[in-house]
Amino acid sequence: MNTIVEAITEELKKAFAECGYDEKYAKVSLSNRPDLCEYQCNGAMAAAKEYKKAPFMIADEIVEKLSGSTLFKSIESVKPGFINIILSEDFLSSYINDMSTAEKFGYVNKQEPKTVIVDYGGANAAKPLHVGHLRSAVIGESVKRIQKYAGNKVIGDVHLGDWGLQMGLIIEELRDRKPELPYFDESFEGEYPDEAPFTISELEEIYPAASAKSKEDEKFMERAHQSTLKLQSGDRACTAIWKHIMAVSKADLKKNYDNLNVEFDLWKGESDAQPYIPDMVQGMIDSGLAYESQGAMVVDIQEETDTKELPPCIVRKSDGAALYATSDLATLVEREKLYKPDSYIYLADKRQELHFTQVFRVAKKAGIVKENAEMTFLGFGTMNGKDGKPFKTRSGGVMRLEHLIADIGEAVYRKMMENRSLTEEEARATAKIVGLAALKYGDLSNQASKDYVFDVDRFASFEGNTGPYILYTIVRIKSILNKYTENGGSMDNLSVNPAASQTEKNLMLSLVKFAEVMEAAYEEKAPHKICQFIYEVSNALNGFYHDTKILAEPDENKQKGYIALISLTKKVLEQCIDLLGIECPDRM
Ligand code: ARG
Repeated sequence: MNTIVEAITEELKKAFAECGYDEKYAKVSLSNRPDLCEYQCNGAMAAAKEYKKAPFMIADEIVEKLSGSTLFKSIESVKPGFINIILSEDFLSSYINDMSTAEKFGYVNKQEPKTVIVDYGGANAAKPLHVGHLRSAVIGESVKRIQKYAGNKVIGDVHLGDWGLQMGLIIEELRDRKPELPYFDESFEGEYPDEAPFTISELEEIYPAASAKSKEDEKFMERAHQSTLKLQSGDRACTAIWKHIMAVSKADLKKNYDNLNVEFDLWKGESDAQPYIPDMVQGMIDSGLAYESQGAMVVDIQEETDTKELPPCIVRKSDGAALYATSDLATLVEREKLYKPDSYIYLADKRQELHFTQVFRVAKKAGIVKENAEMTFLGFGTMNGKDGKPFKTRSGGVMRLEHLIADIGEAVYRKMMENRSLTEEEARATAKIVGLAALKYGDLSNQASKDYVFDVDRFASFEGNTGPYILYTIVRIKSILNKYTENGGSMDNLSVNPAASQTEKNLMLSLVKFAEVMEAAYEEKAPHKICQFIYEVSNALNGFYHDTKILAEPDENKQKGYIALISLTKKVLEQCIDLLGIECPDRM
């Protein structure tokens, strides 16, 4: 199925060709003067140069040619040579009916399906999650779903930070607290216990304590470094503790991500990449790509077209240790071996941009990934508090995700209880779903790279461009459809009639943009485009609703047309929120 713009363009192409002009000039776009028209074509302006004619003469000819077209209610040429288009109600309603029966409402991704790895979440095992990890999870989940919807084979990997200094810090703190444990007895040769020597709440407390201690106690820091190195070289005791840390921490992270409705296909981490590092680095040295600089091994990444100087990528430190970049490169080695992806999408704070530029360039230079592999870094901005500074709790600490979710759920609950249409119990359950939607929508409706202000009251509001408003719109439709069927109405064989009012037409005009919005959201990996779209659709639906007596409409055919239209609206909105990773309650 053609997108709406393609359908209109086809019609204009015929006219351009019949009038003797190249059909490439028949470019149609959404009107930038919605007060004057719905779509526009500026092709006559461009064609004027080639055909050495006044643009309005060309526009006049085209418009004349199309005067009998059933697509348009009006098509006008406007000086100096614009073509303004208003669609006919008949064409629009038949397009809407085609959309209703088409797979994915007519959206087709015309490219070959790809295998895509989305690297998101990126939590650091045993360290507290922070709001950056929230953004990574929320945006990454949506990007992943959009990729799937486009027909790609998508693998989401949480890529845990599970191999760093935090491990040595925890091991040493544990040694100080529980020196009697067998891990710290050098002469111990038996099997280590299966049970972890700490619970998640202890672990949560151990890391910050160890981290604070390391800042004051140099010796402790040195011990932590040594333990980290021992772990990284396969020491039995350190590995045993590490396994406990990972088991306890992963179980907790799973719970956190479950609560967010974020699901990974792979639970791999930096540690999985370690076996590939020695050969990979040796390969770079052997091929002459990596060279020694101040004892370290580095790879140049500067390209002629760069406008600023980019430092070389260090692949091995002078003490032999691997770095963040080394681990990301080795992860690519593993991913190529196991999944052979065509495309990689990474989500992380935009301050990691240089890191990813280095990794991507070295990966291509070293032949770790194919020359034409798509490597995308989606760097996101900071979530700020109302004071414009990075978001903190009232006590100044980093916000725990659970508390954040609970806070916004509470705000939504209070809003819902103002209306008092729900029981306490239902309101609580619903507030959980709506609160999460408020949180996610508040994030996703901004362009990811921008910083944004986390404002519980605004996000939880039932009015404006918010998650609750979108859900409220869907719930409103659900409720009308329920009443309609309760009154004996049938949902079979429904079709939309030509719009009888401007608000009905507006709703149709917004819905027909679906395929184009999906294309843009997919190409640009931009969930906020879906948010813009559903906000527009929701406004249009509510405009139509306030203007139209749907359930009280006495004419059965008319009523069926309305029902068909709002039922399509509901399906489109539901599909869109699913792509955002948002769920909708039945009532609110
Ligand atoms: N663990 C990292 C952090 O907390 C994010 C990981 C991003 N992904 C990657 N492949 N480097 O900043």
